[in-house]
Amino acid sequence: MTNLKSTTNNVINESANKKELCLQLSNIAKVFRTQDMETHALRNVDLTIYKGDFVSISGPSGCGKSSLLAIMGLLDSPTSGSYHIVGKDVSQLDVDMRAEIRNKSIGFIFQSFNLIDELSVFENIALVLRYREVDKGSKELTESEIEQAVHNALAQVDMGHRAGHKPNQLSGGQQQRIAIARALVGKPAILLVDEPTGNLDSKNGDAVMALLKSLNKAGTTICMVTHDTRYAEFADTQMHLLDGEMITEPVLMIGKAS
Ligand SMILES: Nc1ncnc2c1ncn2[C@@H]1O[C@H](COP(=O)(O)OP(=O)(O)OP(=O)(O)O)[C@@H](O)[C@H]1O
Ligand SMILES: [Mg+2]
Repeated sequence: MTNLKSTTNNVINESANKKELCLQLSNIAKVFRTQDMETHALRNVDLTIYKGDFVSISGPSGCGKSSLLAIMGLLDSPTSGSYHIVGKDVSQLDVDMRAEIRNKSIGFIFQSFNLIDELSVFENIALVLRYREVDKGSKELTESEIEQAVHNALAQVDMGHRAGHKPNQLSGGQQQRIAIARALVGKPAILLVDEPTGNLDSKNGDAVMALLKSLNKAGTTICMVTHDTRYAEFADTQMHLLDGEMITEPVLMIGKAS
């Protein structure tokens, strides 16, 4: 009984007083309207993530995982419900404000790496800092500060020796490590990860998951979407979506072949 419960969002709530709030979604719904039909991609979704958590969200194709991650990453807005990032209400912001908060607070990791092949590994990561809007009252980063930050991020993923390579000179697993360094370089409040192993063979997939696990142990907050229950088990809290709704007793699904 306690085992079942330990994988639900309830337990995150129970430990609330010890932890600092990172993301909080309440009663989120998403309806896509096309000419002749409505798709209810998400309904009644409540999700609270605290600093230092490692949360996975899994479920079958079409259950709403990417729709939820897009809302969490401020790439899309919910049809209804409220959303707070580090205590700030971000449900009703305009496009510019959303972009600003996204750039500052959220690191994305995608299935398809999304690196720019013409740029070196170093420049792919530095780009995040060069194009970041500077807050009022704070200074733009100097070139040597950017260099330091990029080298720190590369060291975190153990890829410092490949700073001068182009992405297409690296293996898939190495490219994903660079994409993770790029997501980390701006010191986001949370890493949002969409199917990070989808383009990798199992050896590289396992290595990327081990890296995410070690980053989390070192303090990075992670929310990962995956349809692969094997990888969902790397997370401390496993949430499951089915037909747009969170299932609260998900552990029975884990490990079962579908
Ligand atoms: N822009 C859109 N317009 C209309 N319907 C959409 C749109 N985006 C997603 N949907 C629908 O919303 C539902 C959820 O889609 P979503 O992409 O979130 O699923 P998913 O869980 O990420 O699936 P997968 O594992 O295949 O990536 C699906 O029924 C999909 O067809
Ligand atoms: Mg998806």
